[in-house]
Amino acid sequence: MCGVVAVLGKRNASHLVIEGLKKLEYRGYDSAGIASVSQGLLQKIKSEGKLVNLINKLDRSTKDKLYFDNSIALGHTRWATHGNISLENAHPLTSYNKIAVVHNGIIENYQILKEDLISLGYNFKSQTDTEVLPHLFMKYINLGNDLLDAGRLVLKEIKGAFAFVAMSVDFPDQLFVSRNSSPLAIGLGDKANFVGSDAHSIDHLTQRIIYLEDGDHALVKINNINIFDKNYKKVKRKIINIQAEIGLVTKGGYKHFMEKEIFEQPVVLPQTTSSFVRNNSEITIDLDKLGFKNKKSLIICAAGTSYYAGMIGKYWIEQIADIPVTVDLASEYRYRKPSIFGQSSMLVISQSGESLDTLMALRYGKELGLKTNAIINVEGSTIDREVDYSLYTRVGPEIGVASTKSFTSQLVILFIIAACLGKKFNNLKTLQIQKKCHYMNMLPNAIVKMLELESQIKIIAQNIKNSKSVIFLGRGLLYPLALEGALKLKEISYIHAEGFAAGEMKHGPIALIEDDVPVIMFLLSDGNEDKSISNLQEAYSRGAKIILIADKKCIVKASFAHLKVEIPHFENEFQSLLSPILMSIPAQLLAYYVAKERGTDVDQPRNLAKSVTVE
Ligand code: G6P
Repeated sequence: MCGVVAVLGKRNASHLVIEGLKKLEYRGYDSAGIASVSQGLLQKIKSEGKLVNLINKLDRSTKDKLYFDNSIALGHTRWATHGNISLENAHPLTSYNKIAVVHNGIIENYQILKEDLISLGYNFKSQTDTEVLPHLFMKYINLGNDLLDAGRLVLKEIKGAFAFVAMSVDFPDQLFVSRNSSPLAIGLGDKANFVGSDAHSIDHLTQRIIYLEDGDHALVKINNINIFDKNYKKVKRKIINIQAEIGLVTKGGYKHFMEKEIFEQPVVLPQTTSSFVRNNSEITIDLDKLGFKNKKSLIICAAGTSYYAGMIGKYWIEQIADIPVTVDLASEYRYRKPSIFGQSSMLVISQSGESLDTLMALRYGKELGLKTNAIINVEGSTIDREVDYSLYTRVGPEIGVASTKSFTSQLVILFIIAACLGKKFNNLKTLQIQKKCHYMNMLPNAIVKMLELESQIKIIAQNIKNSKSVIFLGRGLLYPLALEGALKLKEISYIHAEGFAAGEMKHGPIALIEDDVPVIMFLLSDGNEDKSISNLQEAYSRGAKIILIADKKCIVKASFAHLKVEIPHFENEFQSLLSPILMSIPAQLLAYYVAKERGTDVDQPRNLAKSVTVE
């Protein structure tokens, strides 16, 4: 989703901004732009599509000396919300070529502000909500306000979730920044300061970061930064020293980040486990911190893949700990009137820690008096800073938009939570806990074996790459995985895919079956497999192309399947308990190879964003 970077006080600021924008590319965007003040003039360049188009344009202008000397610049990657993908709608948006603004989020009352500004003679060139910002700045600066006062007056008028940076040719040594719900970080340099949507986007410039809090605004100058809270009170925000520059994460020899992230799971998942399991046998999660002094029920909120992880978490926690769990889509939870009866604690799950829907659900949970916990990958993210207790997945940056290693690492934590709650509330004996910890240690090798199915999955990918629609089926712990498998496939291959609980097929979805529609089932012998095989048979009889990813026993039983992938042999209990993690691997590989066959943009699929910072 939209990314913002600004540099003040360094020569060639526009090139440094581009370096920052490169680090935000993973978030997903469809156009980009930069603006700088050079020799008293505002210069801007925008382009549709990938950043490389902007860089080529910038290089040409640099040759023309247009951009040679600037020490203030801001830039943006845009994920279209209001207005189509076009040069006019790309940021920075400007007013009379004197003010430039880059913005992430949505100005909800822009329509009425726009009408007012038009009546005052301001000319709108874009369909964006953002364009009201530069014009409002212009209006207040023309009335004699400096950049800070103008910014404050703008803030009084706008509503919504936003993070923005404004720059004016009249104040070429200042940036006005503000945030409300959308993330924004300020970087401290030596006679230079920086702004970015996240710390990573400016970590090539500094390791000293301040995160603005909600409602804050700041005037950033070369030598100082003044931060004010929503009541205009000058405040000091904590300076955080982030890790030394991790620079641009590389693909490490793989063709795509997603491929790398799938194949590195055996290496990174132990990093998740090691934070919560001591001496290979003891779980270190603090249940009091989690809000579980007493037996209560739990509410889990999340979006996308993280939501499916939450569904699997529910199955585990109810099965292992006998604690009732409700799982809600974050975007739904916030806007209905949920009952918190019997609940004391909320768990949100978010790889990025920035999904606005999830953040809003978290804030709502707090308002309702719940203790809040989060499973997150990005330390320092907004959710991390606002939640009472964070459990970090620690799998390193995930760049591919489609979540892979984050999903399995979220599952690892959920499984450990279930075991820990089981010990306290469901009489799980020390030996049983040790066994569960042992299972966590067995996972990396098991995943290596699952990854060896690669060549068989490639054959299935070849087989379904031209399908119009694909159906995924699963039962029990593998039902949420069917949903996740379908999500993965549609996200990156653009093939329509739906997941269903196997038993639900006959209640509607079976109407979708026609000749050659691929029906993919993840199946393990867990005592209920015969029921699932019957569901598969029903689809088979109606002409579906049956693809079975299953253990040997199931493969033998469902010999009618057209294509079969036999998973390696694992110990029974390990296989059935950890089935969602094991089966994630073929689901991820399948989506990846289908997308590769179809030549789509695997890491940055159309219309999607890695960090969704609008509601
Ligand atoms: C976006 C991504 C999904 C992701 C979801 C939740 O929609 O495209 O792949 O699962 O956000 O992200 P989060 O960072 O909150 O886990």
